[in-house]
Amino acid sequence: MNRISFPDGFIWGAATSSQQIEGAAGEDGRGESIWDRFAAVSGKIEDGSNPAIACDHYHRWREDIELMKWLGLDAYRFSIAWPRIIPTGTGKVNPAGLDFYDALVDGLLDAGIRPFPTLYHWDLPQVLQDKGGWASRETAEAFVEYSAIVTRRLGDRVKQWVTHNEPWCIATLGHEEGHHAPGHTEPAEALLAAHHLLLSHGWATEAIRREVTDAEVGIVHNYCPSYPATESEGDKNAARWFDGFFNRWYLDPVFRGSYPADAVADRVGAGHLAGSDMPFVMDGDMAAISTPIDFLGLNYYSRNVMKEGPDGKPADAKSVPADELTDMGWEVFPEGLYDSLMRVHHDYKPRKIYIAENGAAYDYPADPEGRIADPKRITYLREHLLAARRAITDGVPLEGYFHWSLMDNFEWGFGFTKRFGLFGVDFETQKRIPKDSAFWYRDVLAANGVDEISTSTSRGEPRASDR
Ligand code: FCB
Repeated sequence: MNRISFPDGFIWGAATSSQQIEGAAGEDGRGESIWDRFAAVSGKIEDGSNPAIACDHYHRWREDIELMKWLGLDAYRFSIAWPRIIPTGTGKVNPAGLDFYDALVDGLLDAGIRPFPTLYHWDLPQVLQDKGGWASRETAEAFVEYSAIVTRRLGDRVKQWVTHNEPWCIATLGHEEGHHAPGHTEPAEALLAAHHLLLSHGWATEAIRREVTDAEVGIVHNYCPSYPATESEGDKNAARWFDGFFNRWYLDPVFRGSYPADAVADRVGAGHLAGSDMPFVMDGDMAAISTPIDFLGLNYYSRNVMKEGPDGKPADAKSVPADELTDMGWEVFPEGLYDSLMRVHHDYKPRKIYIAENGAAYDYPADPEGRIADPKRITYLREHLLAARRAITDGVPLEGYFHWSLMDNFEWGFGFTKRFGLFGVDFETQKRIPKDSAFWYRDVLAANGVDEISTSTSRGEPRASDR
């Protein structure tokens, strides 16, 4: 058996977010979030559920740290719920909210696990949405105030900070397509939201550094590589369009201080922008957004294949056999992770990269003995880790990998129907069950490497000693 080792010091982690796991929605002074409000609207969440209890992590965090210890995690990526810290968005701080994360951080450090928090993973205080949300520049100002308060309290122990998780999802799914909170369908508003998210990232980066002198600050982008269906000019243009809309709209401002001209022209052409001057971009904004960052987090799940549609517009060209799709309908395409890392390294040269999320939704029920055998997740993990390792060999400064997710949780508009966890969660009893993939990942962490064995012989056999 050939073991592919990772560099010494490579950070192995797992990720979650506050709204998806914490529950305790109305407890200890937490304010309402836009996701609490959105989930209460009939038809917005596939299974009619809501995140009021979720994984009840707010009460079970000590037990959850034990799971992380068992796995052997070096680091844990979680997010901080703004409505817990400042229930009204700005102004009065809720001490119980800060105390919760303070205790969590101490618990993680006691367990030898590095806390790797994200300040914003989509749970905006509803009060701020009522004043315009991310479409309003004032929300960017409020985010800086909130970031300073959190980092002032935790920064003596927490040295790595992520500002935002996936601005594309917030802007597009939340404001253009309406699948996410706040559920709006206004393309022009999505562009405002994207700008204010990026601006608040730049401003907060400076604020965090003022509070924590030795902080490393980064942002997390969900990168989706875009391939043309054929080499025709029309298909190549469709792939360029998607890349501009999805990736470069966020990475160019952060690393180059400008929006990509071709993607701006696409938006003008679509009538989403009146002209390329973009009046909401004020003097100094692009300089703030491009404040150098210490690391870039990339979330990678799948790729897109694009073609020129019959009407000449860019269209999705994917046609993938069902057994190569995850439960999200996303194609399993590990090569895309390699391509993404190489492209981002080549075009943007971040100082360090972390894979901040990568994983797959597969629903495998527990067998009568309570075992959850999830062979496809193990295959997914192995192949993506091997792709990541090849990128390191080829020069990418990739310093860590966070699996999405530590445990099954509230998957936004899909409710509890999509299971991404290394640990299964029984949402009736809150029992956590290590899936076979958890045993497998634990072995990878212990060995700091992946056994490169054929998938047919490697599907999900946990070590006998663990059963
Ligand atoms: C990402 C989100 C994360 C989770 C995964 C599946 O887009 O950051 O919260 O929903 O997708």
